[in-house]
Amino acid sequence: PPQPTIVASVLPADFAELGSQLLELEKAGVDRVQWDVMDGCFVPNLTFGPDVIAATRGLVDLGFEAHLMVADPDPMLPRWVEAGCGIVIVHAEACPHLHRTLGRIKELGARTGVALNPATPLAAVEHVLDLVDLLLVMTVNPGFGGQRYLASMESKIAAARGLIDGRGLDIELEVDGGIARDTIGAAARAGATVFCAGSALFTGPGTMADRVATLRAGAT
Ligand code: DX5
Repeated sequence: PPQPTIVASVLPADFAELGSQLLELEKAGVDRVQWDVMDGCFVPNLTFGPDVIAATRGLVDLGFEAHLMVADPDPMLPRWVEAGCGIVIVHAEACPHLHRTLGRIKELGARTGVALNPATPLAAVEHVLDLVDLLLVMTVNPGFGGQRYLASMESKIAAARGLIDGRGLDIELEVDGGIARDTIGAAARAGATVFCAGSALFTGPGTMADRVATLRAGAT
């Protein structure tokens, strides 16, 4: 089985110490950082823009993925890549022209991601999988960290795993929301191989490295 990828969501980080928090995440052994970009319109919360991401780009070697929880991602697509994000994830629900948007992300030289909110069927990406590098199945309703994992998403995770493997596609299957030591095993058994965690990394027993190791062990 593939080694699990542990992605740290910076949403619960101490924003007054963002740089040192990223250094701590790198030292703790996370594989990637997810920037939860929120516009206060697509989700009822507002976080950070490309300048904040760019300010930290030179501090760590970790890969950055921008999770765009925004109502209209097209106008600012280049900004996330310029800020240092190697993966740009858009929400299917926010892209009336998803095929074109994914093509534009590829033209910018980044890898593409599509996120699906809990109510959104897998069918929303069925006809653009040739343009998708990462599929993000939300296991909470986006907007805030610290919410409860939705086990009802496991059927969608399993269906996504079946679709990806069935067609022999090289697409990362990521889950995000409420991923912790007591939920990551079920998400992994359902077929996820990339796990985005916020609260479970920034809070809990032991050191940050302990918590990364606990999640990694729970996913295998
Ligand atoms: C939801 C956010 C959260 C965050 C992780 O909009 O995307 O899922 O990444 O938060 P936790 O791991 O605390 O649920």
